[in-house]
Amino acid sequence: MCQNHGVAYIKPGIVEVQSIDYPKLAIGDRKCHHGVILQIVATNICGSDQHMVRGRTTAPEGLVLGHEITGLVIEAGRDVEFINEGDLVSVPFNIACGRCRNCKVGQTGICLNVNPARPGAAYGYVDMGGWVGGQAEYVMVPYADFNLLKFPDKDQAMAKIRDLTLLSDIFPTGYHGAVTAGVGPGSIVYVAGAGPVGLACAASCHLLGAAVVIVGDMIPERLEQAKSFGCEVIDLRKDTPLADQIAEIIGVPEVDCAVDCVGFEARGHGADSGTEQPATVLNAAMTVTRAGGAIGIPGLYVTGDPGASTEAAKEGNLSIRIGLGWAKSHSFYTGQCPVMKYHRQLMNAILYDKIQIAKAVNVEVISLDKAPKGYQDFDKGAAKKFVIDPHGLIMN
Ligand SMILES: NC(=O)c1ccc[n+]([C@@H]2O[C@H](COP(=O)([O-])OP(=O)(O)OC[C@H]3O[C@@H](n4cnc5c(N)ncnc54)[C@H](O)[C@@H]3O)[C@@H](O)[C@H]2O)c1
Ligand SMILES: [Zn+2]
Ligand SMILES: [Zn+2]
Repeated sequence: MCQNHGVAYIKPGIVEVQSIDYPKLAIGDRKCHHGVILQIVATNICGSDQHMVRGRTTAPEGLVLGHEITGLVIEAGRDVEFINEGDLVSVPFNIACGRCRNCKVGQTGICLNVNPARPGAAYGYVDMGGWVGGQAEYVMVPYADFNLLKFPDKDQAMAKIRDLTLLSDIFPTGYHGAVTAGVGPGSIVYVAGAGPVGLACAASCHLLGAAVVIVGDMIPERLEQAKSFGCEVIDLRKDTPLADQIAEIIGVPEVDCAVDCVGFEARGHGADSGTEQPATVLNAAMTVTRAGGAIGIPGLYVTGDPGASTEAAKEGNLSIRIGLGWAKSHSFYTGQCPVMKYHRQLMNAILYDKIQIAKAVNVEVISLDKAPKGYQDFDKGAAKKFVIDPHGLIMN
């Protein structure tokens, strides 16, 4: 029997590399003829994983983490027709059946058939269907023909694997945030958050032709990272209100559109920049976005947060000033990114050198046994996107 190892959530603040089962082409007791087994080439640590590891969700002990997966097909089920053993593939973090009404219109983030508890599923994520995660050596991917994106040339792909690994989540997610905020040529955009998603969003805004991309955060290294590829930055530790800081950059206190790349663990501005204020990014986005503008919200909001500071927030009820957004006729776009809508085009943008996405988010490749340290460093605010290389195929 083949061996497998994966990163498991143990308790708040602790993950561990454990020996885990080698995947089977099965879903429970049922054979999964439409699935494949992947030898994982690259699998990334995400801010979404951090919500679980910080104890801010109901993730169970022992959950094998990891939803950002790129791998080599080593076994294909009987009914897989168009993906072959030996293919190098990117796995969208959303698990989608390709058969339900939502999948049929490209809403793969809310597939109706892959999670008995609610629409939408992901590998290695709480409330997302119980699928085994891919921060591991091997993983099973169902509905392979529908889900997987095959790279056209393996050698070319391995040469750009640091960029291509970001296609499983944060590049499409950042891009989706920009698209749903209506970013286009000449746009002036405020991106809240300079974590990997915020940086991927900022780089996507440039790809879409934005004139000015302003990134706000309270971690100086992350703001430096945003500056390194041409963004304007706002340090939210300063007391000056966000709108005034925006006016210092563009002469007026409002932007065309905004993207929330922070989510429910947001902290306040100025003196409150160390204190959690879960609705602050949404309220700030409404304050600084022009009337008629749109707000993309890839940042995650939850239906249950055991670590929240108020009873209301424990149920996901936040103090959002919806009257302001209504008065300004804002549009809001929430939810998981339907990765498949974008991954092929963004793959080509990488392969034809239209974007340096790994450089923008500052990818650092680490071995599987260094994953717990990667989690710690990321939690401390490292201006990096950690990519796990479980078989040493990238580093060696
Ligand atoms: N919708 C999706 O499909 C999807 C996919 C991936 C990640 N996400 C979510 O996107 C969010 C960002 O992910 P990440 O990996 O970049 O996480 P991250 O935790 O590394 O980044 C969040 C950043 O926001 C900053 N921040 C905190 N409060 C702020 C505020 N008020 N204004 C501006 N910045 C503030 C933090 O300092 C941090 O740098 C997370 O909530 C994650 O769960 C969503
Ligand atoms: Zn992710
Ligand atoms: Zn579906």
